[in-house]
Amino acid sequence: MPLTPPAWLLLWLSLLLSSVCPALKTAAQASASTGALNVLLIIVDDLRPSLGCYGDKIVRSPNIDQLAAHSLLFQNAFAQQAVCAPSRVSFLTGRRPDTTRLYDFNSYWRSHSGNFSTIPQYFKENGYVTMSVGKVFHPGISSNYSDDSPYSWSFLPYHPSSEKYENTKTCRGQDGELHANLLCPVDVKDVPEGTLPDIQSTEEAIRLLEKMKTLSSPFFLAIGYHKPHIPFRYPKEFQKLYPLENITLAPDPQVPGGLPPVAYNPWMDIRQREDVKALNISVPYGPIPVDFQQKIRQSYFASVSYLDTQVGHLLGALDDLELANRTIIAFMSDHGWSLGEHGEWAKYSNFDVTTRVPLMFYVPGKTAPLPEAGQKLFPYRDPFDLASQWMAPGRQSWDLVELMSLFPTLAGLAGLQVPPRCPIPSFHIELCREGQSLLNHFRFHDWEEDPHLHGNPHESVAYSQYPRPADSPQWNSDKPSLKDIKIMGYSIRTIDYRYTVWVGFNPDEFLANFTDIHAGELYFVDSDPLQDHNVYNDSQHREFLQSLIP
Ligand SMILES: *[C@@H]1O[C@H](CO)[C@@H](O)[C@H](O)[C@H]1NC(C)=O
Ligand SMILES: *[C@@H]1O[C@H](CO)[C@@H](O)[C@H](O)[C@H]1NC(C)=O
Ligand SMILES: *[C@@H]1O[C@H](CO)[C@@H](O)[C@H](O)[C@H]1NC(C)=O
Ligand SMILES: *[C@@H]1O[C@H](CO)[C@@H](O)[C@H](O)[C@H]1NC(C)=O
Ligand SMILES: *[C@@H]1O[C@H](CO)[C@@H](O)[C@H](O)[C@H]1NC(C)=O
Ligand SMILES: *[C@@H]1O[C@H](CO)[C@@H](O)[C@H](O)[C@H]1NC(C)=O
Ligand SMILES: *[C@@H]1O[C@H](CO)[C@@H](O)[C@H](O)[C@H]1NC(C)=O
Repeated sequence: MPLTPPAWLLLWLSLLLSSVCPALKTAAQASASTGALNVLLIIVDDLRPSLGCYGDKIVRSPNIDQLAAHSLLFQNAFAQQAVCAPSRVSFLTGRRPDTTRLYDFNSYWRSHSGNFSTIPQYFKENGYVTMSVGKVFHPGISSNYSDDSPYSWSFLPYHPSSEKYENTKTCRGQDGELHANLLCPVDVKDVPEGTLPDIQSTEEAIRLLEKMKTLSSPFFLAIGYHKPHIPFRYPKEFQKLYPLENITLAPDPQVPGGLPPVAYNPWMDIRQREDVKALNISVPYGPIPVDFQQKIRQSYFASVSYLDTQVGHLLGALDDLELANRTIIAFMSDHGWSLGEHGEWAKYSNFDVTTRVPLMFYVPGKTAPLPEAGQKLFPYRDPFDLASQWMAPGRQSWDLVELMSLFPTLAGLAGLQVPPRCPIPSFHIELCREGQSLLNHFRFHDWEEDPHLHGNPHESVAYSQYPRPADSPQWNSDKPSLKDIKIMGYSIRTIDYRYTVWVGFNPDEFLANFTDIHAGELYFVDSDPLQDHNVYNDSQHREFLQSLIP
């Protein structure tokens, strides 16, 4: 019997999670009164947890690590769909892609599925000044060409003027000419306007913080950074942090034998860049020549360190403006990115490498002691200072959490009413949330008490999904338009395993057919953390899989 995906998912959820996460008692609605906490939401584009604070030994990210040292960091946070617009609309509205019905880039939820409230809209309606800098909503139809203005924002969203050069020929090739390359280390003083989008966004965000300091209303400032999204256009000095001879390949650079073709994403956008096109790489499986794989990884890591400096300048300014004692900081990414794992690149899949994201919350006086007058929590740290000390995360949780939890969690942390849980279906309801609130993780009274486990990783799960137009990789497998979707891969991640079923999907009625199974994947975390050995067909797991199907 075909079930609508939300019903199927929520049935599972209710079975598995019945005992978890009672909503925290919330404070009365905060108004523009004194004492309300501000929110600084930092959204990074395509950043997997390749960060020092997530245990990465190569990447230098001292400023993000410093934020983590004062935050609660989620080790097992997952995006609901590993592509920009669907993921952003999902976490900004607090609903699954099956409810926003956005699996591609081509519709605006308010006219397509339901008039769902967004996180910034909710803060705005509760007396906050809300502001958007850079890429917060995905631009284009999916946010009505306006970043969901006027509903979400108090002012017109800011976009850096140099953004328009991102995909133009501004990368100096070996021939001395300018190209639209994938690898694009630049001399910032030579590029058009002499600046880069993320530098401009940081400057604008700091200007806004300065203005907000004098205001009596609390603010909600969202800043969306562009890097490490492709093209890797970053100040070239960051390459020096990652000498090519020190760059290894992914630990599992081959396409695994047991990988169902439907699970594979052929990374078509990468192939379209001039420098990659010149390599004449075989479609769909590649591989990319080994030295070029190293260069991609080098440029990704360099972009992350460049991003880290922007975060450092932003948080340094927050500190200097003495706002760190009354501003919640949430740091996250829209999804991850494959850097050659399973022979794959980019996002567009259901693997951990593309769905797992960094997620951390700094809450003044809660995840760290309130800074005293004049004390700096976030002094800028230079990634080129190789002697500077690595900083461990403050608190950590290993619970499986979803990005959809951002809405109820930020609302609750700021003292606003946590929106009610959504009924099924919820297309007609403007304000509700499908994600769990993570507030129970913040229930520590003394920040010095045991910094470990709050919650129970064995009782939590995270769902992701990815659509495909066909069983085998083809030109539009990475980003099928709604009308072309024929298969949906539903994926569940627990602390022990990732299980994915690829089932028939009817895009006219938004119906998944769970008796029409095209392929399955099962990976156990302990024995196969990289997800290279699909044991879905192994007879010894039959009974286990049967027990999962509702
Ligand atoms: C959608 O929600 C917005 C914000 O609450 C409201 O202004 C607008 O009237 C709603 N639109 C419809 C069609 O209900
Ligand atoms: C989308 O933007 C257009 C043009 O500004 C506007 O007329 C329309 O009402 C917007 N859609 C919604 C659902 O608000
Ligand atoms: C690169 O590797 C060499 C040899 O292992 C090591 O001495 C050097 O510190 C490494 N450089 C960086 C920037 O990690
Ligand atoms: C699993 O079994 C199906 C059906 O027999 C087959 O098509 C598929 O290739 C098998 N997958 C693996 C990983 O062995
Ligand atoms: C690209 O590769 C294909 C086979 O993989 C070959 O037939 C073709 O000649 C190559 N083209 C160029 C321009 O090297
Ligand atoms: C934050 O710090 C500033 C400067 O030290 C001080 O004036 C303000 O009262 C503090 N606010 C809170 C909520 O502690
Ligand atoms: C669901 O898939 C099964 C197996 O392919 C098929 O027999 C059935 O007709 C499908 N149901 C619908 C509603 O399409």
